[in-house]
Amino acid sequence: MNPPSTILVTGGAGFIGSHACVELLDHGYELIVVDDYSNSSSQVFSRVERVAGRFVGTVYELDIRDRRALAAVFDRHSVDAVVHFAALKAVGESTRMPVEYYDTNVGGTTTLLRAMHEHGVHHLVFSSSCSLYGDGDGDGGPLGEDAVVGPGSPYAASKWACEQILADVCRRIPGFTVMALRYFNPVGAHPSGLLGEEPRGTPDNLMPCLAQVAVGRRERLHVFGDDWDTPDGTAVRDYLHVMDTVEAHRIALEHLGDMPGMHVYNLGVGQGSSVLEVVAAFQEACGRPIPYDIAPRRPGDVRERVADATAVARDWGWRPRRNLAGMCRDAWRFQQLNPSGHAGSARQTNRKRVTSCG
Ligand code: NAD
Ligand code: WQD
Repeated sequence: MNPPSTILVTGGAGFIGSHACVELLDHGYELIVVDDYSNSSSQVFSRVERVAGRFVGTVYELDIRDRRALAAVFDRHSVDAVVHFAALKAVGESTRMPVEYYDTNVGGTTTLLRAMHEHGVHHLVFSSSCSLYGDGDGDGGPLGEDAVVGPGSPYAASKWACEQILADVCRRIPGFTVMALRYFNPVGAHPSGLLGEEPRGTPDNLMPCLAQVAVGRRERLHVFGDDWDTPDGTAVRDYLHVMDTVEAHRIALEHLGDMPGMHVYNLGVGQGSSVLEVVAAFQEACGRPIPYDIAPRRPGDVRERVADATAVARDWGWRPRRNLAGMCRDAWRFQQLNPSGHAGSARQTNRKRVTSCG
């Protein structure tokens, strides 16, 4: 797909979505953004505009499950493709609120699909997740797209359900094309320090926890288990810079016209880092010691999850360019510059509120 094209970005105020908005604006795309701000703030768009040097486009506050509101957006704009980030994403929370997760993640996706189909929009880039591999093949080797699927939480199961629905829709509707991108562990922040990850409440994920310990908002990091069968006993993951992640989305958009159907790609670096290696890299980035203790393993955790990301390199030439040191440096810069998050930037954007009445 060649710019200028109009892209609907769902969940565009979130961590990955806000970085994707910058990436797409930088490459000439016109954007329509929808978000209900359930895990974000509309304040982020003034930051997006500062970084991109352009207006973000039209932004709608709406819940993607609101069929009429979503249809009204498609009625008003000629959308060429959709990048669908909007979802609930906390694995632990999903075990306590499974219905909410299925409703938002699966129901939100089918509502979006209906609106797309009714408006003749058949190109979608979908945020999927490495979590659907469960504990992988068990041998600790890199996970290819054909690795055994075993979703271990309602969150992971919701992503797998979406993928299956999307694959079936692609089989049945000629021309429908979906790029499902299974991200491993996106971390880091925009190098400007203006955009980053801003979890509500106590963060679950390692990198925001580290940043909060480093800045003094938390006393220490709990390392969940040092008795895994790994070189230093702590669990291994494939951390990927959010800037590399969103670059892959822009490239995915460019390939939507290649071949119709469902295409699934892993997005990862292809190299694992243990928890203690990430702690060491973060200490290096922030120049101060990170106090930590060893805690019991977290329920549902797996020993190792590393991507085999050769398919996306082969098909699109996409390879991540940023290393763990850069991810920690950028995450730390964002944390330092924004001890209380994005709030505080007040410039208005061209924002509209659409209710179910349109
Ligand atoms: P995020 O929570 O920062 O962003 C999601 C955005 O969607 C938020 O702005 C939220 O307000 C919005 N949203 C949620 N429910 C909505 C609804 N019903 N209607 C409209 N907007 C809604 O999360 P993120 O880290 O940016 O993740 C983006 C996508 O990537 C999600 O689909 C997530 O499952 C997927 N993903 C994330 C990771 C990760 O580690 N961050 C890894 C793999 C996959
Ligand atoms: C990484 C490692 C923890 C916090 C999750 C989702 C996955 C995807 C990415 C959405 C693990 C350890 C963590 C802490 C720790 N998201 N850790 N102390 O669990 O690999 O993946 O986010 O799709 O689906 O499952 O990421 O950052 O939570 O944990 O020791 O305070 O850090 O045990 O080994 P995870 P994470």
